[in-house]
Amino acid sequence: MFKLSEEQQEIVELVREYATDKIAPLAEEIDHEGRFPRENIEGLTEMGFMGLCIPEEYGGIGMDELTKSLVIIELAKACASTAVIVDVHYLVSDIIMHMANEEQKSKYLPMAAEGKLGAFCLTEPGAGSDAGGLRTKAVKNGNDYILNGQKCFITNCGPNEGDYFVVIALTDPEKKTHGGMTAFLVDRDNPGLSIGKTENKMGIKGSETSELWLTDCRVPETAILGKIGDGFKIAMIGLDGGRIGIASQAVGIAEGALAEAVKYAGERIQFGKPIAANQGLQWYIAEMATRTEAAKMLVYEAADLRERGEDCTKVAAMAKLFAGEAACFVTDLALQIHGGYGYMKDYAIERMYRDARITRIYEGTSEVQKMVIARSVMKR
Ligand code: CAA
Repeated sequence: MFKLSEEQQEIVELVREYATDKIAPLAEEIDHEGRFPRENIEGLTEMGFMGLCIPEEYGGIGMDELTKSLVIIELAKACASTAVIVDVHYLVSDIIMHMANEEQKSKYLPMAAEGKLGAFCLTEPGAGSDAGGLRTKAVKNGNDYILNGQKCFITNCGPNEGDYFVVIALTDPEKKTHGGMTAFLVDRDNPGLSIGKTENKMGIKGSETSELWLTDCRVPETAILGKIGDGFKIAMIGLDGGRIGIASQAVGIAEGALAEAVKYAGERIQFGKPIAANQGLQWYIAEMATRTEAAKMLVYEAADLRERGEDCTKVAAMAKLFAGEAACFVTDLALQIHGGYGYMKDYAIERMYRDARITRIYEGTSEVQKMVIARSVMKR
């Protein structure tokens, strides 16, 4: 059984208070206008949360993996867009913390703690679930590498957002996933980097998602993260953590939707009594609460494994699979409980329902998580 430390509880209370007072009241407007919630990121930076797991010597507050999940859960209850912006930022900080050399850490980690956003650039038009199918190339040229290619669906990448990019590119196309890819750190002001189309999404509309073009993008050898050929493994290890983050986002959305459903069911009178008095509805609530709690326990277990440096690939995939499915189940029933009103934009549940849907897709679809789990269980 997980018992939060006093420090973890304090952080949960702090972030919950901030999310309830400042973030939640803006969520509807951010969704409606599809605008980036800059003020939320600034507020979270002031409170130290953008550098949550970054060691103190680099300007962070040095917390652990579970706390990261706790923060994302609280943010997602209030605003799923803000939660994914922070989650991807954590994913990139985490890759830099674990894979970068001292010089790179000294440059990028203080930037991250100051709220400058990182983006993770793996996906390409022809390389979604099959991440190994990417075509962006990095060719050696003297002491530099020249990158050419197109990335898509990149979170924290937009006309005004995204300060540094972890880009995965082929350095040895023959070897592909088995040592043929390398990770590079590319700065926003690199003249070879440009932002393409920004997507108009169904949900998480405050999070910017864009194409990234690399056109004769010259980076020095010192931009390599880890070693030449480490790129695919860096991406996969990063995604193990990222999946725990998205599972946390899904748990937060589910908790938020459950609370909305309980509130509405207590207030809505039909046939002379609150609809909450109906056993059929109570069974909905019981099922929603059980799945949400079970998803949370998987998140806690995965975060705990990762914190202890143990193999978390399987449990992270289980958490992502189960939590994503649970978030969609819970938001669907919560909307059902709201009846016709739930279909209207006047109620938060309409946004939550749309926001939940992506948690079964990004950071690996539910089907990819099943591949990862089955391979791990069957040891192949
Ligand atoms: N940790 C460490 N190493 C790993 C690993 C892990 N979790 N997973 C794979 N590897 C290693 C393998 O051991 C293998 O190493 P060797 O070369 O030494 O043998 C190598 O990587 C290749 O592995 P596979 O043969 O298993 O690779 P594959 O081509 O079969 O792909 C996959 C496996 C799991 C399906 C992978 O392609 C995948 O995860 N796809 C989904 C991609 C994804 O999640 N994209 C999300 C994009 S980011 C995003 O969505 C962010 C956002 O906006 C919120």
